[in-house]
Amino acid sequence: MKPTTNIAVRAARQAGSILMRNFDRVDSLKVTQKSRNDFVSDVDRAAEEAIIRVIRQAYPDHAILAEESGHQEGNDFQWIIDPLDGTTNYLHGFPQFSISIALMHRGILESAVVYDPLANELFTADKGNGAYLNERRIRINSPKSLTGALIGTGIPFRDRRFIDQYLGMLKDMTKDTAGIRRPGSAALDFAYLAAGRLDGFWELGLSQWDFAAGALLVKEAGGSVSDLSGGDKYLETGNVVAAGIGLHQHMLDLIKPHLSNELSR
Ligand code: IPD
Ligand code: CA
Ligand code: CA
Repeated sequence: MKPTTNIAVRAARQAGSILMRNFDRVDSLKVTQKSRNDFVSDVDRAAEEAIIRVIRQAYPDHAILAEESGHQEGNDFQWIIDPLDGTTNYLHGFPQFSISIALMHRGILESAVVYDPLANELFTADKGNGAYLNERRIRINSPKSLTGALIGTGIPFRDRRFIDQYLGMLKDMTKDTAGIRRPGSAALDFAYLAAGRLDGFWELGLSQWDFAAGALLVKEAGGSVSDLSGGDKYLETGNVVAAGIGLHQHMLDLIKPHLSNELSR
């Protein structure tokens, strides 16, 4: 494992113990609403501070983009951090959430960690060295057709601009596949895809911190990640389709008829 990935693992584990310590007292947490359906608690902030402390100690010159504290300038290396992905689940005691940490160097993802502290599942990837769940190498499933495939997604619940297009995609996706899942932590959805627990995934309007680590995990597990038109602008647009190479084009074909001009970009 690269030293940077090791540091991300240490940071994720520290954040994980903060999330676990507070999970049985979510009723008493101070929660504020950042925008419609977008909540943040003291736990998100404490976990983010712990992650940044570990990273800063090892790499004081690196830049940081973190969901709760925003952007901190630095050199060409940038850490992309979501201290608690699946906040709504967490605040409801719904056991599906994770910590997501990625390192990017001049636009290229180098290190990825997604950690599920409840299941003690640690997903890691170094660029060029494959993806791992704990110590075990993971590989994406690559069925050749949608029949029988299990597909993950996120239903738009904040930005409603593309809800009709999304529901069109969902309708077609349910027709052709074995089932759809909406677990509620995009980072973990990508990790599950990398581990072969899902066969494909798509979502609109994600933020970089939700899936930068997940995207590298999927690629290092042998999968394809693209925007809705098959291009590579997914981290900019937040619109993403990911699957094994055999299935990815089928998902894009199914999504295509529902794309407006804005979504095709
Ligand atoms: C959310 C989760 C969810 C996705 C949302 C994200 P948060 O992150 O990843 O699965 O559908 O778009 O915002 O707010 O819980 O960190
Ligand atoms: Ca998130
Ligand atoms: Ca979050």
